[in-house]
Amino acid sequence: MNNHRQKLIYLVGFMGAGKSSVGTILAQRMGWPFVDLDTVIEAGQGATIRQIFEQAGEPFFRQVEHAALVEVTRKGPAVIALGGGTFVQRPNFDLIRQTRGATVWLDCPIEELWKRCSTMDNRPLFRDRESFFKLFEQRLPYYRQAEFRIATGERSPEEIVQEILSLGLF
Ligand code: S3P
Repeated sequence: MNNHRQKLIYLVGFMGAGKSSVGTILAQRMGWPFVDLDTVIEAGQGATIRQIFEQAGEPFFRQVEHAALVEVTRKGPAVIALGGGTFVQRPNFDLIRQTRGATVWLDCPIEELWKRCSTMDNRPLFRDRESFFKLFEQRLPYYRQAEFRIATGERSPEEIVQEILSLGLF
């Protein structure tokens, strides 16, 4: 077991929770690089997340997602925005635990998430309202295992970043 706490902050949460926008500002404030896991995957595959899902399927996506996570956790310091499903996959969860980086769940009400995601079409797992709500419910027990929880709701990314900084993580 690795007892050294790596300088990594993982932003956890469902689609539309604001992981990328909060992460960008948080990284600036920390003076650390910002890593968006979905962007790393897209760059590595030369395809969008939607294309990967459509052409190779979700199991393949989960494999490349894990490989990308292995890659980004090797380097630090960094603020890492995970994908909505990353923390839910056991191998990822275990790897994150091993790095002993800080996990921060951006907890946003489901209605607000639904509203935000409705305006974008880049999320393959965003389909109908029923499956969206169901997936959210299934994932809550995993998100709750993050070390820190920040209630986001309609708060601005700036305010959320202030609250994360006030935790004095590193
Ligand atoms: C996913 C969320 C997406 C992306 C992929 C799968 C999920 O990331 O990784 O579409 O399983 O919830 P965002 O949470 O950044 O939308």
